[in-house]
Amino acid sequence: MPDQGSGRQSQQCTAVVGLQWGDEGKGKVVDLLADAHDATVRYNGGANAGHSVVVGGERYALHLIPSGILAKGKPAVVGNGVVVDPEKLLEERAGLQKRGVDVSGLVISDRAHVVLDYHKIEDGLREDMLNAARAESSGGSGPGQIGTTRRGIGPAYADKVNRATALRMGDLVRPEVVRERVTLACRLKNAMLSGLSSSFAPLDADAIADRAIRAGELLGPSIRDTTYLLHDMLAQGKRLLFEGANATLLDVDHGTYPFVTSSSCSVSGIGPGTGVPPNRLARIIGVAKAYSTRVGSGPMPTELFDAVGEGIRQRGREFGTTTGRPRRVGWLDLVAVRYSAMINGATGIALTLLDVLSGVDRPRVCVAYRTPEGQTDRFIPDGSRLGLVEPQYKELPTIEPGLTECRQFDDLPANARRYVAYVEEFVGVPVVIVGVGPGREQSLVRNLA
Ligand code: IMP
Repeated sequence: MPDQGSGRQSQQCTAVVGLQWGDEGKGKVVDLLADAHDATVRYNGGANAGHSVVVGGERYALHLIPSGILAKGKPAVVGNGVVVDPEKLLEERAGLQKRGVDVSGLVISDRAHVVLDYHKIEDGLREDMLNAARAESSGGSGPGQIGTTRRGIGPAYADKVNRATALRMGDLVRPEVVRERVTLACRLKNAMLSGLSSSFAPLDADAIADRAIRAGELLGPSIRDTTYLLHDMLAQGKRLLFEGANATLLDVDHGTYPFVTSSSCSVSGIGPGTGVPPNRLARIIGVAKAYSTRVGSGPMPTELFDAVGEGIRQRGREFGTTTGRPRRVGWLDLVAVRYSAMINGATGIALTLLDVLSGVDRPRVCVAYRTPEGQTDRFIPDGSRLGLVEPQYKELPTIEPGLTECRQFDDLPANARRYVAYVEEFVGVPVVIVGVGPGREQSLVRNLA
């Protein structure tokens, strides 16, 4: 009988989660920690995520497969909370194999939901329709489009909750189930989507089912009950590393709703998304960039529209891994980061891309918001109200050049250390990793208990 959550066992798991709007460099942190763990686990999101990791000078862009796949042969688990586009997954797996990566550790939950063509079509049509409605009402109060990645994420999660027409990965290996479910789904989607656009061509259920069945044949050996797999590993004293996709400010409950994704990106998604309970988490690393970025629509109080922002975008290569869209760039919003650290119970912060701020004249960090109701240092997780705030800044000394050469925390020059210290003090959580470049050796680790 395994000990259900004693102190010893609860030391087994680490979570890595984004504290901003995504693209904080979580993949790199996961890669750094993967060696000390026995498996990496994704619990939310889908192919909307983009984790880019540089190993041995090679850059890998991962969307669905946990970044831990790069830790040779260890299980890389796609949990039940993920929505899986099977063809994208196959493409990603083949791309890694071609580059010599051992993908034998890839395991996919039989309960992860499947994203099919009609989810992507629906995602795009809804976005277009919301955009058109917004344009027509010019100045209306509706949110307009969310600016989704159009990867079918929202519609797939909606079908999961709606139940009857959804497919799970475990169903893919049963052709008769796939055909029946896809036929039903196409009937429903044809009725719904034809009303969204006059150019919508009715879905071909047989063709969609054929492709899904083919994907099921190819992925079948990797589809398993991952809940028992993970609990068996825990019972053997193995250590799990959870990899949050997207980020806390995009969390469907705790983010800047409605400009969020459709899953629980914060650590609270781990339970429902994997079946591993919260008392197994010993260490929660919140990842924050030294500045802010956002892709898609929605408020971002510290956004920069000037040459300083453009310089950061270029130096930080702030273009989406998934969509290639230029990311919006702004100063570090510490009000937001402190809120996210609180939501996740972060035990440490990984502050990434600090080198990008080198030479930026007196960088600012946001320490409060001025709102129509007065000043506050509390975050406002509401898309429309957050759009009305005016950030209040603290100016910090210009960070010196040469950060990319640092290999230990103590190598950092004085103003870089001041920046780190200010973040720690404001957020109330120690900075345990500082990123000064894309390579593994450019992650400066400090007090990572
Ligand atoms: P969706 O997840 O495609 O529905 O998109 C919803 C919002 O979340 C959009 O603003 C996307 O740009 C954003 N988003 C989703 N995943 C990520 C991510 O991994 N990084 C950054 N933004 C993301």
